[in-house]
Amino acid sequence: MNKEKKIILFASGNGTNAENIIRYFQQKEKNISIAGVFTNNINAGVIKRVGNLNITVSVFNKEDMTSGKLLAQLIKINPDLIVLAGFMLKIPKSLILAFPSRIINIHPALLPLYGGKGMYGNHVHKAVIEAKEKESGITIHYVNEEYDAGDIIFQAKVPVLEEDTPETLAEKIHNLEYRYFPEVIEKLLN
Ligand code: GAR
Repeated sequence: MNKEKKIILFASGNGTNAENIIRYFQQKEKNISIAGVFTNNINAGVIKRVGNLNITVSVFNKEDMTSGKLLAQLIKINPDLIVLAGFMLKIPKSLILAFPSRIINIHPALLPLYGGKGMYGNHVHKAVIEAKEKESGITIHYVNEEYDAGDIIFQAKVPVLEEDTPETLAEKIHNLEYRYFPEVIEKLLN
């Protein structure tokens, strides 16, 4: 039997992607488990959202990211993959060095377009619509020291219609994320 693989999820907000990934692996994979959710936001919706799913949620602050406290917790768990699912802070170099090619992120646009500092959630969709783009999508990529600049693993597209608002586009993008993100994670681990 394959060795059991461990995933750690990082989320800062609502956590619908985190919930979707957890449910996917709880139902499907016997050899992949979610070893915990980490959030930098004590008020994040993700805390309540995954509370019923039998998953440990750990809250940390910015200082824990640079002091070595978070790193020590992660090393102890020794995850095969760290998945940023709606995580809004920059990952420090110490974590990237400790987990080479083992940290991935999802971005709600077709990188290298509409990435970088300040480009998250609805800010992205607003910029896409204002620029009258005909399509947008999702990008799953490795995390390096620059925001949204690591090697691309997977992209999927959706059309942007004239009547789309940031909210309707966000919904279309979320649907793509729910459909593809767990599968891409599974492929990376198998
Ligand atoms: C997702 O659409 C994700 O792609 C985006 O935040 C949303 C989080 O939703 N991430 C970024 O913008 C990262 N720069 P969720 O909390 O419901 O999963």
